[in-house]
Formats: sequence, C-alpha cells, structure tokens
Amino acid sequence: MPDSQTGNNQMGNSQPGSSAGTQPSPDGVTAAGIGPWGFTITGIGAALPDKVLTNQDLTAWMDTTDEWIRERTGISERRIGGSTSGLATEAARIALAEASVDAADIDQVILATTSPDYICPGTAPAVANELGLQCGAFDVQAACSGWVYGLIVANGLMLQGMDRILVIGAESLDRITDYHDRGTGILFGNGAGAAVVERTGTGGGELLSWDLGSAGNFVHILYAEHGDVLKMDGKEVFRQAVTVIQHSANTSLERAGLTVDDIDLVIPHQANVRIVESAWRKLGFSMDKTAMVLERTGNTSAASIPLALKDAELNGRVNPGDTVMFIGFGAGMTWASAIVRWAER
Ligand code: COA
Repeated sequence: MPDSQTGNNQMGNSQPGSSAGTQPSPDGVTAAGIGPWGFTITGIGAALPDKVLTNQDLTAWMDTTDEWIRERTGISERRIGGSTSGLATEAARIALAEASVDAADIDQVILATTSPDYICPGTAPAVANELGLQCGAFDVQAACSGWVYGLIVANGLMLQGMDRILVIGAESLDRITDYHDRGTGILFGNGAGAAVVERTGTGGGELLSWDLGSAGNFVHILYAEHGDVLKMDGKEVFRQAVTVIQHSANTSLERAGLTVDDIDLVIPHQANVRIVESAWRKLGFSMDKTAMVLERTGNTSAASIPLALKDAELNGRVNPGDTVMFIGFGAGMTWASAIVRWAER
C-alpha cells in the first residue's frame, strides 16, 4: 500500500514467485501431480444471531442519527449475541447440507476470525468437535481479509491431496466493540458464513488467481489490545482500504489475464458502502455486479464475504460458469483477493 508518509507505493509483489509456479495450471494438472484439478464451492451456509441492533437503537445512548449512519456507512442494522463457535457451527451445518457432504468427509476446518471464543486455544477445534470431527482445525487471524486468506490456504491444501475443506468466517464482534463509541459502535456486528470447498475433476470450478498482502506499519489504525475494545482511525482506514482494494483487485485480474468486464460478480468485504463505491469508481466495477449485505449486517469482519456470498446465491446471482471475485481488506493491515470460476453444472 502506498506509504502514508511518502506516498510511495511499497506493496511490491505480495504473491511470492510467478503465478505459474503457485497456481494450478490451466489444463488442471498441478505441481504436486494430483490433477485433474478442480476447485469448487459446493455448499454455502450463513448464520446470524437473532438480536437486531438498529441505528435507531443506538440513538438511545449515542449522539447520532439513523440518517447519519446510513449516509456515511450504508448500514441500517447489525446483529449481536451468540458466540463465534456457535455461529460458525450453524453456518457450517447449512453449508454441509447444501453440498450433500457428511461432516465425517471433511479433511480440514479453517476458521477465519478476529473474535475467537478464547485467546487460546483457537476456535476451529471447537467447531470441528461440534461437527463430530477430529480432522485438522486451525484459526486464521487476518481480520476482515481472513476468509479469503482461508480460501487460498484451502486451495494449497487441496494441492497436497485434501478433498474437502470447510472454510468458515465467524465473528462475535460485540465482545470487542464499544457500542457507545461513535466511530466503531455504529459499524460492527456478529455473524458467520461457511463454504464447503471440494477438489473436483476438470470441468469443475477453478481458483484462477489470487493476491495476498499486508502492511504491518498500519497496525495502529485499527486494533484491539488484550481485554480491550477496537480502536480505530476511521479516516485513515477508509483511505488505506480504498487503495489496497484497487491494488489487490488489479493484481488478481492481471494474474488471471482478465479485465473488469470478465467478472460476473464481485463480493467485497462489507465495511462501508462508501469505501466500495470509491474503489469501484477507480477500478471501473459497477454496484450492479456487486453483492452487498452490509445494510442488514453491519461490518462482520471475516464473516462478511461468505455472508454476502450466501445472499448472492439465494438471489440467483451466482451461476454455473460465472467468474466471481472476492476482495477482503482490514486490520493489520491485510488484504486478499481471489478470482474463482464457478463450476459448470
Ligand atoms: N453520528 C453522528 N455524527 C458523527 C458520528 C456519528 N456516529 N461520528 C462522527 N460524527 C461527526 C463528527 O463529530 C464530525 O462532526 P463535525 O464535522 O461537526 O466535527 C463529523 O461527523 C465527521 O466526523 P468524522 O470522524 O470525520 O467522520 P467520517 O466521515 O470519517 O465517518 C466513519 C466516520 C467511521 C463512518 C468513517 O471514517 C469510516 O467508515 N471509516 C472506515 C471504517 C471502517 O470501514 N473500518 C473497518 C475496516 S475493515
């Protein structure tokens, strides 16, 4: 991301090596010799806690208005309550049912979260246990980019021979949000989304390209210390987010040999609709091709992209053969994008 002091672009090559060496080749034969290769999302699940916290509710104790929050963020309400493991398990069960996959056939659970049940251990083993699994299970802490990080890691594990992986994003951000703070309290909410990712034969879907990056020099613009709530420099987060979205989207497009017009649907992290609109103006994406659930969920960090994916699926916006781009960005800072071609059915 451009250095905030100098304006220099210091992002460099955030995907090590050439894309040819790190991604499945177009004919589906992988470096590990596994081929025929396919990467297919076969089931998607979403879970939100029942308790709704509206903008109007916030006005009872905060000097704000529903209109101000909607205009500045695009958010009308968010959900609170539930636990990260509980929401994750609920979303995972829905994804497994849709994929017609028995939990016992899952090889790995990857859970992206920035609000784990405990600081230690991770939350993924608890979710695996709830599902009756003893397979590998670990958390990804890459804040709001976490689910896309998880998806790319899943691709790597499948290159090593795994067949079915649960990639979950789940948050109970109400545990680290001060709902009296006008900067952060208006933004964050709880929820979970999950995807069953399967290795399939050629003709299945494909991870066409990806980009991962971080800029740890920006840790101070969005962070929570142990036992404390999230602290944020909202204006700086906004500025940096718009920059890294453009960088990561352009990098993934270039690596896939695609242009904006080739993308059927974009699913960005749901932080603030104005962040997305600003980045889109520069990239040339349209809001018509964008999946958004922010208005009803608020910012659910690692859960936001799979929640928007589920909503898009329910509304018939993800179809066989479609090319879908995911773009995550958030605290760290971290960013991640991935372009996935949906399986032909
Ligand atoms: N309700 C009403 N007024 C508010 C307010 C609120 N919740 N928060 C701030 N204001 C007021 C300020 O007091 C200020 O008033 P003034 O002009 O009279 O001094 C004015 O609104 C502008 O405040 P500012 O802090 O500059 O607001 P902003 O335009 O930067 O919006 C955010 C604040 C948080 C909505 C915005 O910075 C943002 O969304 N940033 C990105 C955050 C994000 O997405 N984080 C997660 C990334 S993964």
